[in-house]
Amino acid sequence: MKRLFGAAFLALLVLSGASAQAAYDSAKVKDVMHVNFGSLQAAKKAIDATDAKAAAAAFNAIVEADKPLLAMDPPKGTKADWDKAFKDLIASAVKGAKAATDADWDTAKAALGELRTAMGKGHAAFKN
Ligand code: HEM
Repeated sequence: MKRLFGAAFLALLVLSGASAQAAYDSAKVKDVMHVNFGSLQAAKKAIDATDAKAAAAAFNAIVEADKPLLAMDPPKGTKADWDKAFKDLIASAVKGAKAATDADWDTAKAALGELRTAMGKGHAAFKN
């Protein structure tokens, strides 16, 4: 009997773990997208002014804003494609932050370009 309860408890744990995934939340996604939009502009401005601190902060704002979206279901398309899109976006923002800190402006500009490409691809696949 004890073992049966143990097994039932374990099954519940596994099931609740599987449902830790959050449903699509348009308002939350829009909030993140507004951070993305403002941060892209801020990063461009800071790169043009060779302001390493401000550029790194703008790239890092994208990293922090977008991470929670990995726990969310997409509005359409597959979860795997959604996760890949945001992992790529975050990787480009991390690359930009490091480049800015190193005052490697060519790489920082390349990262900015990657973020714009990620936006175009993300919107084509997931935005109505
Ligand atoms: C730095 C890159 C990005 C920028 C600057 C950006 C910007 C924006 C903006 C300004 C909006 C409109 C928000 C509104 O209606 O108030 C939006 C919406 C949206 N974006 Fe992005 N985006 C970026 C990357 C991505 C990526 C990578 C994805 C998906 C993989 C994505 C998915 C979406 C979706 C699904 C919406 C519609 C939200 C809704 O109405 O429910 N975006 N984005």
